[in-house]
Amino acid sequence: MFNVPADADRLKKLGIIGFRFLEETGSTNDDALAWAEQGAADGSLVVADTQTRGRGRLDRQWVTSPGSALAMSLILRPTPAEAAQAGLFAGLGAVAVAEALEQGWGLKPQIKWPNDVLLGGKKACGILSEAAWSGSHLQTVVLGIGVNVAPSSVPLQEALLFPAICIEAAAGRTVERQDVLERIMERLFFWRPALGSVEFLDAWNRRLAFRGQAVQIVMPGYNINGEVMEVDSAGGLRLCRSDGNVETVLAGDVHLRPAGNGR
Ligand code: ATP
Ligand code: BTN
Repeated sequence: MFNVPADADRLKKLGIIGFRFLEETGSTNDDALAWAEQGAADGSLVVADTQTRGRGRLDRQWVTSPGSALAMSLILRPTPAEAAQAGLFAGLGAVAVAEALEQGWGLKPQIKWPNDVLLGGKKACGILSEAAWSGSHLQTVVLGIGVNVAPSSVPLQEALLFPAICIEAAAGRTVERQDVLERIMERLFFWRPALGSVEFLDAWNRRLAFRGQAVQIVMPGYNINGEVMEVDSAGGLRLCRSDGNVETVLAGDVHLRPAGNGR
């Protein structure tokens, strides 16, 4: 997949300080968390061709098929200002992926709060932001990004709660994974210094899926219905209830569904 020395050199110019490529691994997020524990620098990246235990939020399975997907985890060492905005990292990844797909392939991605990128209303990318703390100090954020690039990366529909798609199907042409990776990293390091700014939140909100539409937020033992308004400065989703009250939902054990979708 990667011509490691030459590609690592190009990645360095984009801000990738260290680079590990694995043909097969369990989860690149686990690898990145372990590497961070051993002292990996801010901007270190783990990429794998395939994952055998790729995961999404709440330990749900993320499928990464060989030769057709991007599975990568970026190690960030948050500054104090970034640490105060830890709820925005998944959004940072989502905005970076969305802009990469727009600029590279003229696509019109939408961001399904809190952590997915959709193409034509179907999931093309999932983001898993995980943190490692030392007491109250946020030492590490591992930003895991999984992207479906070629058709064989798309899992069988029966296995999914939400429909899936890949970039090649949306773009109607062949797409190089290396190109997707580099474009995502370029946008990610572009937006990182602006995390939490008005411009960043605007870049997120402009692409927010279901905006102005009725959705259901599914939580353990409790659902909220409302109309999607916007993402707030902490990364929470503001919803307008039918009684006019505004409720803010934080990412966590929640799932967003279009209203009327019983699953
Ligand atoms: P959803 O709305 O799909 O439940 P979610 O964001 O709440 O999304 P996550 O935990 O983020 O759920 O994502 C994991 C889910 O993504 C899995 O349960 C599976 O249905 C789906 N999935 C797994 N692999 C892929 C893939 N390669 N492409 C698209 N969807 C996938
Ligand atoms: C989700 O939709 O819940 C997030 C999926 C995140 C998948 C990526 S693939 C690279 C990294 N390694 C993992 O095990 N998960 C993330």
